[in-house]
Amino acid sequence: MQESEFSFELDGTDLPFEPGQSIMEAATQAGVYIPHLCHHPDLRRNGSCKLCTVKVNGRFGSACALPAQAGCTVESNTSELQEMRRQIVQMLFVEGNHYCPFCEKSGNCQLQVVAYHVGMVDMHFPPFNTARQLDASHREMLLDRDRCIQCARCVRASQDLDKKNIFGLAGRGMNIRLVVNSDSGLLGDTDFSSADHAAQVCPTGALIRKDQAYPCPIGSRLYDTPISQHTIRQDARHD
Ligand code: FES
Repeated sequence: MQESEFSFELDGTDLPFEPGQSIMEAATQAGVYIPHLCHHPDLRRNGSCKLCTVKVNGRFGSACALPAQAGCTVESNTSELQEMRRQIVQMLFVEGNHYCPFCEKSGNCQLQVVAYHVGMVDMHFPPFNTARQLDASHREMLLDRDRCIQCARCVRASQDLDKKNIFGLAGRGMNIRLVVNSDSGLLGDTDFSSADHAAQVCPTGALIRKDQAYPCPIGSRLYDTPISQHTIRQDARHD
């Protein structure tokens, strides 16, 4: 197969891809944004949030997990898929306790920018108001489970990149929660460090540095501009 034959159609446009790339990776490389949360370019695929759901040859699938295939037809930017994504984001908001105006990650939060991108204007569903454990035991880092969306980015980064296995997910379904692998269950009783990869990959404000509240002024935060080609490139770098 010639190199030029490695292409597929995304929303009516031909996109080249490299063999082995996922649909998400090929789209990002071409500057096309497909909403995502659990996907991170430095981490093994997870496929849990379903925000990147696209239609491939008419069937639903996760763009971050499905390999790009020559000749296939992928739909992403359709009203049907955007509505589905909006509902997923709304469910994430009501399942956790996300108060963007008071969150240090506001403007740099992927959950927040995805909510804007899919046109979310309210939570639609009644909030769960679940009691979550705040862990302030660590010297440098704060773990606010109210803001955790169980994307497992920190779990994968700690296991695969830091080789520390600090985090895990316990429970199932609505009871799934982020746990810390120490006898006490507290972050302060681990060798976690703010320099760890796991400390850098949280898409929300669930894991933040204690000494850097509101580090960027409004206007220069990562997502102060709407998602655009410029932001996509930033996203790819900062993801
Ligand atoms: S980004 Fe693909 S399932 Fe989460």
